[in-house]
Formats: sequence, structure tokens, C-alpha cells
Amino acid sequence: MAKFSGAKVWIDGPGAVPGLSIQAQDVSAEDLPAGYLLVKTEYSSINYKDAIAITGRGKILRSFPLTPGIDFAGEVVHSHSEKFKVGQKVFATGQGFGEKLSGGLATYCIAVEDKILAVPDAWKPKQTMILGTAGFTAGLAALRMQQVEHTSDSGYISGPILVTGASGGVGSIATALFAKLGFEVWALSSKKTRHTYLKSLGARKVMTPEEFFSQELKTVDRPRALEKGVLGGVVDNVGGELLSKLIPFVNLWGNVASIGLAAGAELSSTVMPHILRGVSILGISSTNCPPHLREKVWELLAKNFSPEDLEGFIEEVVPLSEVFRVSTELLDRKRSRRTLVQI
Ligand SMILES: NC(=O)c1ccc[n+]([C@@H]2O[C@H](COP(=O)([O-])OP(=O)(O)OC[C@H]3O[C@@H](n4cnc5c(N)ncnc54)[C@H](OP(=O)(O)O)[C@@H]3O)[C@@H](O)[C@H]2O)c1
Repeated sequence: MAKFSGAKVWIDGPGAVPGLSIQAQDVSAEDLPAGYLLVKTEYSSINYKDAIAITGRGKILRSFPLTPGIDFAGEVVHSHSEKFKVGQKVFATGQGFGEKLSGGLATYCIAVEDKILAVPDAWKPKQTMILGTAGFTAGLAALRMQQVEHTSDSGYISGPILVTGASGGVGSIATALFAKLGFEVWALSSKKTRHTYLKSLGARKVMTPEEFFSQELKTVDRPRALEKGVLGGVVDNVGGELLSKLIPFVNLWGNVASIGLAAGAELSSTVMPHILRGVSILGISSTNCPPHLREKVWELLAKNFSPEDLEGFIEEVVPLSEVFRVSTELLDRKRSRRTLVQI
């Protein structure tokens, strides 16, 4: 019998404000079904989705009570699995943790073996959580582009990759990853204070969205259906009006990796970029990524990021008791890069 304590989101009666408490209960490792593991959590992280779940600003947790935390990494302490041994370092991102299944913001996590991966040799559990779902999603965007021959040496797709919401978790890792993959990266961030940092990650140009539209392109509020094709592609974390306004600037056969909706879920566009320039929107769904692609993405990330590279993405490492504060700050756009939770 192990003592479990985790962050639980509670709702106290109809119309009440959701909040967060730390609760403790016993967890019995002996009751694990076949194929399941008990993992002693070392690190989790705060993604946009976690912040919404923890603050109750949207419906992420599908049932109550449920432990939030879509990512976790740690050590196997009990195994009813052929694939993983006690003492092995493992991690998981997305796949329903912290949404439908109890997640990583707890001292122990129970998980089925199919959702678990071994920590890559060169890394420790902490490094997998520096990337977490945010890094996985940036990697999935790169992989999806590779699948349609959109590489830095493509013979027929040219122009920079523009990353929106670049100071955030996904955005900062995407900026660094696409630069490492040989692309010219333009980072779009409304946080001027982060512009130097984004350059240090490899961005050739860093601009606010307003600067992009007014200085770079000298355009009016609403772009035409097709503008000058100055972008090779977009890695978009923001959605809404910004994405709608960027698509007309994508060059021949360029691709838009649609990741996020930080500014809104709407998309207003015409078919012209798609039928006249071959521009495609690649949907990025980290939660539903099939296992063979999931492994490829982690191989890509492990190949491109050393443990030293990864340390630079950390904004703050906090204990469980601080997750409500940092989640609120993340949604209020007062944070950037990655927030880790040390359990
Ligand atoms: N598709 C998937 O599988 C998947 C996976 C992970 C995340 N996501 C989504 O991707 C987005 C980014 O996630 P994250 O974890 O990187 O979040 P994050 O760390 O909070 O970063 C989001 C960034 O977007 C920009 N932003 C935030 N609110 C905005 C607004 N109202 N208008 C314009 N820009 C805004 C900010 O960048 P600047 O201040 O630099 O402009 C912010 O740093 C979220 O929408 C998240 O839900 C999707």
C-alpha cells in the first residue's frame, strides 16, 4: 500500500467557483490489472490545457473527482507489464491523462503500458517534462511537415516558417526545433521582452503580430485572399483572426500546422491559397497521435535536443502547491516557456 497525494480540482456546489486542493488517499499497487504500472512521479508540467483544467476556465476534466496533469515522468515502482520493469524511468504525455484518466499532478500515477514510453537514454525524467506535451506537439508539427516533403532543403517549398505565440511552451520549442532542422524561422510574439530570447533560440526575425502586418507587409487590416507569398509555412498556436490573416501570405505548397486556439477557435479564409498555391493546413492532434508516430516524434526530439538545450526552456520549477498560481498566470499571458512541477 502506497500513500498517494495529488492535486484535485473540486467544484463546491452548483455555480461555485472551481478551485484546487491537495488531497491524499491510499493507493494499492497489488490491485493493478494486467498490463498496468504504478509510477512514482518525479515531474509533471503545466500546459495550456492543464491551466484551463486547474483554474476551471473550461471543460477539460471529463469527470470528478479526477487528478489533472496531462504529462508525467518518473520511476516504475510496481509493474504488471511485460514491457516495463520496476526501477525503469518512464514518461507519458497526453492520451487522455488529466482529462479522462487521472493525470500527473500527483505523487503516483497508474497507467496502462501502451501509453507509456521509456525515457530516452541521454535524458532523465525531468528532460521529458521540459518538453512534455508542448514539445511533443512542436515535434509532431515538424514530422507532419516532413510527411508532405516540407523540409528545409525541399526543392519546391521555400520561405521562412513563422511561429505564432512564440514565447509560449509550444512556440518556444517549435522556434528552436525548426531552426535546428535548418529552416529560417520567424517568431511572432506579442511579448517584446521575449524577443531577445527568441533570437537566442535561432529565430532569424522576431516581431509582434502588428509589426508583421504593418512593417513587413505594409498591408491593411484585412489581407486579400492572396497576398505576397512571403512565408514558407506557419506553426500556429493562436488560431482565430491571426491565423486567418496569415494564410494568404503562405507561398506555393507551403503548410500551416494548426496547433492552438489561444486567441480563438474561429477560422475565416477562402479556398484560394489552397487551390491556387497548393497550401495545406495540417491538423496537429497530440492527444490522438497514433503510437508509431508518437515514437517517431520522440526520436526526432531526442536527436535534436541535448539535456543542456532543454534546461534553457524552463521558466520555473514549482511544487504541487503552486500549480493554481502558475496556471492563472499562464492564462493571463504572464508566463512564457515551460513551467515544470516537481513532485
Ligand atoms: N493541438 C494540440 O495537440 C495541442 C497541444 C498542446 C497545446 N495546444 C494548444 O496550443 C496553444 C499553445 O499552448 P502552450 O502550452 O504553448 O500555451 P502557452 O505557453 O500559454 O503559450 C501560448 C502563447 O500564445 C500567445 N497567446 C496567448 N493568448 C493569446 C491571445 N489571446 N491572443 C494572441 N496570442 C495569444 C502567447 O504568445 P505571445 O505572447 O508570445 O504572443 C502565449 O505565450 C494553446 O491553444 C493550446 O491549447 C494544442
